[in-house]
Amino acid sequence: MKKQRAFVYRCSSCGHEEPKWLGRCPECGEWNTLTETAASGPVPGARISGTGFSGKAAAGTPPQSLPLSSVDPQEGSRIESGIPELDRVLGGGIMKRSAILVGGEPGIGKSTLLLQIAAAARTRGRILYISGEESAGQIRMRADRLELFAQASRIEIACSGRLEDINTLLDSVKPVIVLVDSAQTLYSTEAGQGPGTLNQMKYCVWELISWVKEHDAALFVVAHVTKEGLIAGPKTLEHLVDTVLYFEGAASTINDGESRFLRASKNRFGSVDEIGIFIMGEHGLSPVEDVSRLFLVRREGELPPGVATAAVLEGSRSLLVEIQALTVIAKGGISRIFSDRIDSARVSRVAAALEKHLGIRLSDQDIYVNVAGGIRIAEVGVELALGCAIYSARTGLALPAGLVIAGELSLTGEIRPVRRLTGRLRTARGLGFTHFLGPLASEGPAETPESFDGGTFIPVGTIGTAIRSLFKAGPEQGR
Ligand code: TYD
Ligand code: MG
Repeated sequence: MKKQRAFVYRCSSCGHEEPKWLGRCPECGEWNTLTETAASGPVPGARISGTGFSGKAAAGTPPQSLPLSSVDPQEGSRIESGIPELDRVLGGGIMKRSAILVGGEPGIGKSTLLLQIAAAARTRGRILYISGEESAGQIRMRADRLELFAQASRIEIACSGRLEDINTLLDSVKPVIVLVDSAQTLYSTEAGQGPGTLNQMKYCVWELISWVKEHDAALFVVAHVTKEGLIAGPKTLEHLVDTVLYFEGAASTINDGESRFLRASKNRFGSVDEIGIFIMGEHGLSPVEDVSRLFLVRREGELPPGVATAAVLEGSRSLLVEIQALTVIAKGGISRIFSDRIDSARVSRVAAALEKHLGIRLSDQDIYVNVAGGIRIAEVGVELALGCAIYSARTGLALPAGLVIAGELSLTGEIRPVRRLTGRLRTARGLGFTHFLGPLASEGPAETPESFDGGTFIPVGTIGTAIRSLFKAGPEQGR
């Protein structure tokens, strides 16, 4: 049996415990943060009781365990945010006793989202919006712009970044939802290090998390992300919180306004597959009525070369997106890929498969890939469409209009089946597409449709047959 130790070395920044002192915390990588503590306090990630916990070590009390079956599973303790797109991303609402980090670049709409949550959340409890970024007057102006007249009376505002003030306020208001804008403006006079340091920010966020865990509340905390500061800033908060949401956007010419995508990169209470799609307009963020057509470019007649329509999955939804490719002779003989909406490694792989199996030259070309509407596509089902778009761009042969494509392209040139083909077909049909190019075999037993509801399903086994069927015997005969 191991000897029970009276002391451990706990990291003041992430709570990790080590049996012996180390100069650097192996968990979060911070230097000089391990300090000797009584070996009894609960630590993050090691919560066994459903009844909350304190971040502070309870000196002297012996450690306890209990049967897993006796733990309250916290079922039914979600609050609807009143914003269905957000609830979807969170996995069915705001989990009580949870901490949610909302990251994103400045100006993307984080404060707007927080204020809208404050206004819409379906709870009778009190809602406290704490801002160290803006004055109460500015927040009021924003609320008016969002037309939150009736709801504004239930949102309580405090403008401070000082942890001690916030703690006092929390204890007197006892809110059910706490919204903090932003982590970067938090500081504590007790944290020891100079204000504004990373450790200060982490200490303050950790204290707020402890408060909501103990008081059956939920915490939203904003963190600004800049491209340079990604690692040094909010990334270090990610392991403290239960859920990490990133807000990203793209100016879009095909939908009126700017699209905003809310994705979970970590979610202890749901999947990370779902994406929330909003449009930032005159009156703040609004959900998109018909997501499936949001990323389609309205076109009359023939398509230009380099354009293919893909049916992709985003969480539980299927979307149609327009993939656009362009190839030009590489300068200096070095081929490069410019693609920020589809992973460049994927583009490279698809291009290599095309070169090998279709005999077209791409290794002397620069390849540009874009997705209309600015959405990032990470689903493998996009590969066949991507391949067709690149082939079309390289050869100058346009794909037939009215065609939707889905399929994974393996390095061997084979088209692999995709998940939920039926859903994709339905979406394509619903939006008036007549032809669907897809995998020969399918993952589900009932998913090998020869025709889809009046349209034509073209099953293909390899990229070679796909290209031949599109350009020789295809629906509207490519030139
Ligand atoms: P904001 O929520 O302040 O961003 P963040 O907190 O992430 O920095 O949103 C800023 C942008 O959103 C700003 O450019 C103005 C725009 N906006 C609208 O277009 N409509 C609105 O109703 C609101 C409130 C903001
Ligand atoms: Mg803001």
